[in-house]
This record gives sequence, structure tokens and C-alpha cells, in this order.
Amino acid sequence: MKFGLIVGEGIGPELVQATKHVLEATALPIEWTDIPVGESALKKYGHPLPQESVSALKEVKVSLKGPLAVERGKGRVICIHDDGSEHIYPSINNAIRRELKLFVAARPIRGFSGISGNHADMNVVIMRELTEDIYIGWEHQIGDVAAQAIKLTTREAVERVTKYSFEYARRNNRKKVTCVHKANALSMTDGLFLKCFLEIARNYPDIESDDCFVDAAAFSLVRHHTKFDVVVTSNQYGDILSDLAGGLAGSLGLAPGANIGVDASVFEATHGSAPDIAGKGIANPVSLILSGASMLRHVGFNKEAFSIEESIHAVLSEGRVLTADLGGTASTMQMADAIAKRVAG
Ligand code: NAI
Repeated sequence: MKFGLIVGEGIGPELVQATKHVLEATALPIEWTDIPVGESALKKYGHPLPQESVSALKEVKVSLKGPLAVERGKGRVICIHDDGSEHIYPSINNAIRRELKLFVAARPIRGFSGISGNHADMNVVIMRELTEDIYIGWEHQIGDVAAQAIKLTTREAVERVTKYSFEYARRNNRKKVTCVHKANALSMTDGLFLKCFLEIARNYPDIESDDCFVDAAAFSLVRHHTKFDVVVTSNQYGDILSDLAGGLAGSLGLAPGANIGVDASVFEATHGSAPDIAGKGIANPVSLILSGASMLRHVGFNKEAFSIEESIHAVLSEGRVLTADLGGTASTMQMADAIAKRVAG
């Protein structure tokens, strides 16, 4: 079983090491292929996402990724394809997703008893569309007096992410899909998102569906989170709501994710490279370990994925080995080791 590995930056290498430790405790014969992206690729190839790495990610098909840092205002990445075409992306993370045609970030964010307070029973999957919206990065500046960005919504992309969300709901015994939008203010872009959602929802009479404005959704996640099951939304709203859900669970270190495409998938946590705690060995590894468990489930190892998830629940509810973000004093590797020991039985 071969997986690609993007080690990442900041807390990336620490979380990757912890996740490998837990995944290897399942005794599955896992082989990792290191694929340089970001600073490491810049050093080796002179480009943060060289076509060599894109090809390697496509070839291996399923990869685990640590977070990559993006310098504020300077993150643009230009990829040149073999046919000479030039593709400009607003950041390295956006570039990976779009070069590999990953169309949805599926983020199952759960609360944990003893950790998440009023949100202990939160169990929401946020489906964030990845290919368009304001994050396509089509911006321009008029001197330093004005700047403009284009928000793109296409029927094709919305139908694809909506179908994926309903199919996911069916496969995973989920009861409801909620479309989150702002069609009252953006009647054309978000209006089209909602229209396509309502059309697709008719094909899934067995799954309940409804919709919600994004501002009201933020309020409801905080106050009435049980009304959400699967949420499908555009790129930017999904980005913001998944961090909110992570915060409500108790830490961004509890929020996993999976970027899914037709030919390739990249599993990564919701959060970034956390430069404020990088290199200290104190980051919470649960987000990436849960992403790793989803990766095993994605390739058919349900039993092993379930065992990792159960072990995480056990370690968190026991409350003895917790990282600082959860009020404990354990290191990243101590927490990973406590989880790995349970996985190994
Ligand atoms: P961040 O998500 O890295 O950190 C926000 C806060 O959450 C920080 O206080 C951090 O210490 C904490 N945190 C995050 N993950 C944690 C973990 N596993 N355990 C404990 N605490 C954790 O967001 P920030 O600081 O805005 O971004 C830092 C860098 O990451 C930026 O360069 C940004 O562009 C990049 N980024 C990368 C992403 C990716 O690779 N997919 C996603 C989001 C941001």
C-alpha cells in the first residue's frame, strides 16, 4: 500500500511523524513516498510545486499532507504545463488542489466528551467546494486606491460538489444535507449555487435537505449545532465555517479533512502550519491522525480507520495524555504514542 507524503512546514513535520506512528501501529504494510512541495521543492527544483511533484501526486493517487505556510500577500504560484499554458494560483495550497483537480474538501468535525463542552455531541461534515468562488484568485489592483476580485460560480462545480455531498450522506447513513450560501446578497453567484443545490436535492428524496444563510449558519453552529449533519457550501464559506467548527470542538488540532478528486486525493488537517507553536513538539496531532484514518477508509481499510478513531476517543475522554491546546502537558509524540498503543491493542 503506497501513499504519497508531503511533509509540510511549521508543525507539519511533527504532525506527519505522529500520524505515521499511529497508522503504522495498524500493522498494515504502508509504504510512504516523499514528494517535495513548498520550501523543500523550491530548494530541489527551484519551484514550490514543480510538475515533477504534481506527476508524483497523480501517480501515487492518495497522499497525506502536512500544512504548508503561505507568506501573506506573496503566496502566488505560477505553474507551467507541458503544453506551455500558464496557471496562476493564489497560494501553494490552492495550487495543489487545482493542479490535481481536487473538487471538495470533506471535513468531518466532531466534538469529544470531556473536551468540547456544549459541543461534545457535534458531528458535522463540512463539504467545501474547492475549485472556484472568490479563491480562484482572479484579482487586480488599480494603483493603491482600489482592488477587485472575481467570485466565480459554475453549474458544473456546484452540481459536482452537491452530488458528492448527497452520495456521501447516503453512504455514511447521514440524514440531512444543508446548503450554506448568501443568496440574499449575492443573488447571481450564490443564487446559482442554491438553485443547483435545490435541483440536485430533488433526486435524493431519502435525504432531508434545507438551506441557510452563511451568517445564520455561523450563529447556529455555535448555538444549535445539532441542526447540522452534512453542510455543502462554497470555497470561502467552507474555509471559515470549518475553522469555526474546529474551535467549537475545542481546538483546530481536532479538525481533520480530505481533499477529494476523481483521480487523486490529498488528506490534510483543516488548520495551517501554526508558526506560533512550530518546532516545540506541542501541537495536537489528532487533526492529522484523523485525516490519516479517513485516508485508510478511502482505500478500503474501514476496520483500521475505525480502530484509530476509537483509540482517539478513548485517549481524549480519559484526559490523561493531552496536548497544551486541550489543557494538558503532553507532547505531540506522547499523545500519538498513547493513541498508537491502543491501536496496536
Ligand atoms: P493556523 O491554522 O496555522 O493556526 C491558527 C491557531 O490555531 C494558532 O494559534 C495555532 O497555534 C493553532 N493551531 C493550529 N493547528 C494546531 C494544532 N494541530 N494543535 C494545536 N494548535 C493548533 O492559522 P494561521 O496562523 O492563520 O496560518 C499559519 C500558516 O498556515 C499561514 O502561512 C497560512 O497561510 C497557512 N495555512 C495553511 C493551510 C494548509 O496547508 N492547508 C491552511 C490554513 C493556513
